[in-house]
Amino acid sequence: VSMAVRTAAAIAHPNIAFIKYWGNKDDLLRLPMNGSISMNLGTLYTKTVVSFRDELHCDTLKINDKEINGEALTRVAKFLDIIRSMSAEPRFASVESVNNFPIGAGIASSASAFAALALAGSAAAGMELSEAECSRLARRGSGSACRSVPGGYSEWLAGDDDQSSLSISIAAEDYWDLIDLIVVVSESHKKVGSTAGHRMAVTSPYQQMRVESAPERLLECRNAILQRDFNRLAEVSEKDSTMMHAVMMTQNPPLFYWEPLSLDIIKTIMDWRKDGFPCFATLDAGPNVHIICPASVSAALQQRLDKIPGVKEIIRSNIGGAAVLV
Ligand code: PMV
Repeated sequence: VSMAVRTAAAIAHPNIAFIKYWGNKDDLLRLPMNGSISMNLGTLYTKTVVSFRDELHCDTLKINDKEINGEALTRVAKFLDIIRSMSAEPRFASVESVNNFPIGAGIASSASAFAALALAGSAAAGMELSEAECSRLARRGSGSACRSVPGGYSEWLAGDDDQSSLSISIAAEDYWDLIDLIVVVSESHKKVGSTAGHRMAVTSPYQQMRVESAPERLLECRNAILQRDFNRLAEVSEKDSTMMHAVMMTQNPPLFYWEPLSLDIIKTIMDWRKDGFPCFATLDAGPNVHIICPASVSAALQQRLDKIPGVKEIIRSNIGGAAVLV
């Protein structure tokens, strides 16, 4: 007997972390060594359609209309295995995903990708998951994806097993109007992805110190957001980003994501803040610099950034809501 095609579609936003996730205490379950806090990037999105079908002999993947095989497909198929094991849906699926931003350059495409896939995949498989269940599921595909499931400012509670490791919204997207101006330093695909990077974090002598002191920075960051205290958020976020990159640079093999232009921009941003202009810089696993500022100064900041030699593209995003079925 043939069953009907079951389809669902979802939209999710990438996120930028203020307090970073780097290193797992369980690589398979993606249980992080420390909690993290981020905001969703509302202007940027991944839209994903999942269809379980009779006629497929394996899962298939299309990203931006291009057929994808190899490692990326294997990762998606493994994720669909988790959905199949949770549900009554045994069939293979086609996954079609569209991004409106460059992938693989430090704008966490894996976060929006797996958040959208968790929502669309679970719905297509006939499950009605709560936000918490969806966040947990998304985490299995890419750790930071669990933060893209709830809206606005999202905190990933590290937890110590599958059940307790998930993200919750600590403030809605309309609580505080921050903007992310992403200075694109390079659009080339990163050589070492974060999955391999997380695994080697423990080889840095600084990782233990970073992890042990993370609860203090999480508290500071959470309070800064709740009090809308930009300077406090700036100081703790910039420090946390540098601490993560210090770990990356000193792990084995070393990961240097910063390009000379990235460092130029970081120092410029620090100077501008010292002069009283509210902005700060933070970088993920790539050379692009995310510059966070209050919405009220974002146009003036963009004009200043446009004048920095070597800056080609700036992607502007406001804060975004939760992942949704469409
Ligand atoms: O979710 P992953 O495995 O791509 O990890 C991303 C980690 C960073 O982007 C470098 C930091 C973070 O917390 O987003």
